Amino acid sequence: MTKAYTPAEDRYDNGMKYRRCGKSGILLPEISLGLWHNFGAVNPLSDSMDMAHYAFDHGICHFDLANNYGPPYGSAEETFGQIMRRSFRPYRDELFISTKAGYDMWPGPYGNWGSRKYLMSSLDQSLKRMNLEYVDLFYIHRYDPETPLEETLQALVDIVRQGKALYVGISRWPKEAAKTGYDYLAAHDVPCLIYQGRYNIFDRDVEESGILDQAKENGVGFIAFSPLAQGLLTDRYLDGIPADSRIAHGGHLKKESLTETRLHQIKALNEMAERRGQNLAEMSLSWVLKDERVTSVIVGASSVNQIEKNLRALQSPQFSREELQQINDICSGDCGLE
Ligand SMILES: NC(=O)c1ccc[n+]([C@@H]2O[C@H](COP(=O)([O-])OP(=O)(O)OC[C@H]3O[C@@H](n4cnc5c(N)ncnc54)[C@H](OP(=O)(O)O)[C@@H]3O)[C@@H](O)[C@H]2O)c1
Repeated sequence: MTKAYTPAEDRYDNGMKYRRCGKSGILLPEISLGLWHNFGAVNPLSDSMDMAHYAFDHGICHFDLANNYGPPYGSAEETFGQIMRRSFRPYRDELFISTKAGYDMWPGPYGNWGSRKYLMSSLDQSLKRMNLEYVDLFYIHRYDPETPLEETLQALVDIVRQGKALYVGISRWPKEAAKTGYDYLAAHDVPCLIYQGRYNIFDRDVEESGILDQAKENGVGFIAFSPLAQGLLTDRYLDGIPADSRIAHGGHLKKESLTETRLHQIKALNEMAERRGQNLAEMSLSWVLKDERVTSVIVGASSVNQIEKNLRALQSPQFSREELQQINDICSGDCGLE
């Protein structure tokens, strides 16, 4: 029999900071937890529960999911549903839970992309799996070049009107489509809460393409996924590929992404982090969070220890102009390493 969970009493006073999400009433923790990996049916439930509890105990009240997180698809939501049932239920109103639909989920023409049919049925399935009556935030997970944007956007509006989500968001839409989305949703009194995009030291596309500025101009928050480049921006791969790492598991992070140049950059960044008196994960997260257009970073983790380390980013020293330039130089190839 597992011991009943009681959250830490000081969970909002032990270091977490909260940022306003665009022009909305919502504050999000600077660090959120994503359940893409390590919360599937293939992972021990006790490990997933320990991570969720540790996160909540430290002020991480935002949990990010999607219909197809696992493996297998749907099982991360089921795991979260178990955690709801066993421990989080009394704290539902303290939690900000998001899910998404947009990638392949079930066979046939209605289990993928951006149709009203798919989004509506997918969210109903997600709610059942998570033991929830509503989610706080529902995202369209990706841009669908075939479905009229208005169909997808109206489905988001109707989902809010049905009370199945309190807010809606957009993930990975190109800039022009995102503008259409922001305008449509605002005109239908369901303003877009947040844009979710990849942002880390190695991948600055949202900065360069103007997605970050655009979100700010439209009163929309921005949340960064893969802020640690799936683990590359940590000490995980400094001495090879550990057997229990994401690369070794052979999922979305490919061995080929750890090129010699990349490893060189990681080592140079790691040396820099050490000089700043922190670990590389901490430095990488605080690099994303230095930008006030960013509302939160969604980290993934395979252990409580990683979450603990990542939370230290909240106490990170500020970057000097020289340090920021040095990071840019390292990324552009000038690693400063022999
Ligand atoms: N909207 C989208 O399309 C989209 C796409 C991707 C992700 N997301 C969301 O963003 C979340 C985070 O994505 P992500 O998992 O790629 O994020 P990430 O934070 O960049 O990478 C997480 C991985 O890095 C490693 N790690 C984390 N902290 C560490 C530390 N302190 N020291 C050493 N290694 C550490 C772990 O890998 P090991 O497993 O090797 O230990 C962990 O699984 C997802 O869960 C999901 O919610 C959304």
